[in-house]
Amino acid sequence: PEAAPRITVLGTGYLGATHAICMAVLGFEVLGVDVDQAKLDRLNAGQVPFFEPGLPELLVKALESGKLRFTSDYAEAGAFGDVHFLCVGTPQQSGSNAADLRYVESAITALAPHLARRALVVGKSTVPVGTAARLTGLLNALAPAGEQVELAWNPEFLREGYAVEDTLRPDRLVFGVRSAWAEERLRTVFEPVIEQGSPVVVTDLNTAELVKVAANSFLATKISYINAMAEVCEVAGADVHQLADALSYDTRIGGRFLRPGLGFGGGCLPKDIRAFAHRAEELGVGQAVAFLHEVDAINRRRRSRTVDLVRELAGGSLEGARIAALGAAFKPNSDDIRDAPALDVARMLQEGGAAVRVYDPEAMGNAQRAYPSLEYAQSTLEAARDADVVVLLTEWTEFREIDPEMLGAVVAQRKVVDGRHALDPAAYRAAGWEYRALGRP
Ligand code: UDX
Repeated sequence: PEAAPRITVLGTGYLGATHAICMAVLGFEVLGVDVDQAKLDRLNAGQVPFFEPGLPELLVKALESGKLRFTSDYAEAGAFGDVHFLCVGTPQQSGSNAADLRYVESAITALAPHLARRALVVGKSTVPVGTAARLTGLLNALAPAGEQVELAWNPEFLREGYAVEDTLRPDRLVFGVRSAWAEERLRTVFEPVIEQGSPVVVTDLNTAELVKVAANSFLATKISYINAMAEVCEVAGADVHQLADALSYDTRIGGRFLRPGLGFGGGCLPKDIRAFAHRAEELGVGQAVAFLHEVDAINRRRRSRTVDLVRELAGGSLEGARIAALGAAFKPNSDDIRDAPALDVARMLQEGGAAVRVYDPEAMGNAQRAYPSLEYAQSTLEAARDADVVVLLTEWTEFREIDPEMLGAVVAQRKVVDGRHALDPAAYRAAGWEYRALGRP
């Protein structure tokens, strides 16, 4: 039988590091490639540069097995790999809604001159539809092996906090390919994943690229939908929490991504819907996805509405108010603060004149670097000490589980805004708190 393909992973950020580690754990020989030497040194030393449950143990296991190493040398990557996964970031361009493709282009440009034999390059990054088709020409032109090097697209759907599970047991695999050979290669690489039951959708490059942005747009729309209902509930005197619960029993709707509150953030959903709307406009079908602008606007409004609610509880003005901000990460089980609603709200509260003290179980370092002017505490109780209003911004379990009586003992006033609908209003009210949440009476 043919030898197992050797794998390289270009870009060892969140997606790439997880993919490289999981592929090595599945038994493949893997080389991770990055331009950031400090990151490579940490990975080679067995340290995951971000917070992700379960991943550090797998990294150590993969390094010890001798199947995984990390390098900055693209020539080595070209000589080593049969299948090259492209996992670099595609952030939002500054001053535009479009995706910034410079890292994708530079990774291809750096790798291609070292591809001297038949190889498959597999894009995993989220890109505007049409990117793969365009990059195929570049790849073939720069690679010594020319047309022997093929490009495929295999979008990644992993959630932060569940990255290992989502990589090893994804809901589905999508293979965007141009030949039966590319499909066969991908089936070989993902054999252990396919065997445990993940369905495979085989399609063309353009469809594969679109699946990712369509999925994220749908999820973002679902969140903004329930948050739009929250706005209606507020003026109608209805309860969005109970509304969402009742909707969720309809199996056609389902309860996931129907949690109202402060809305979505992170490194994917916000930039992906903007880049999708931008790309659709370029293609002349902007009207088809114009609703995504509304999805974005509803989501941004959650942040300012949360600030309004805190102001209301603080007695009509934020000037001089002491606010305890519980949470900084864009969601629990993550230290990621990219487009974090929590920090955006903390910043707005401070701009309004409040003294804001932030605590987060994992994201303190990242938050302090990005927002040095906010105050930071080492624990929930320290953040809450003498606070006029406590605002829950990220629904970590330790915040959900805190005893309202204990929290009440340290604050100046028992007033709480539950930005994530994560606390038990009855328990807080029983302990004498004034409890408020968007969309609840
Ligand atoms: C997301 C997609 O889920 C994933 O498939 C894709 O590949 C990358 O983007 P991630 O960014 O890790 O993953 O976060 P996710 O768990 O999807 O949450 C996104 C945001 O939505 C968070 O800020 C979360 O707090 C918010 N959210 C989620 C809600 O406000 N309500 C919900 O019901 C669900």
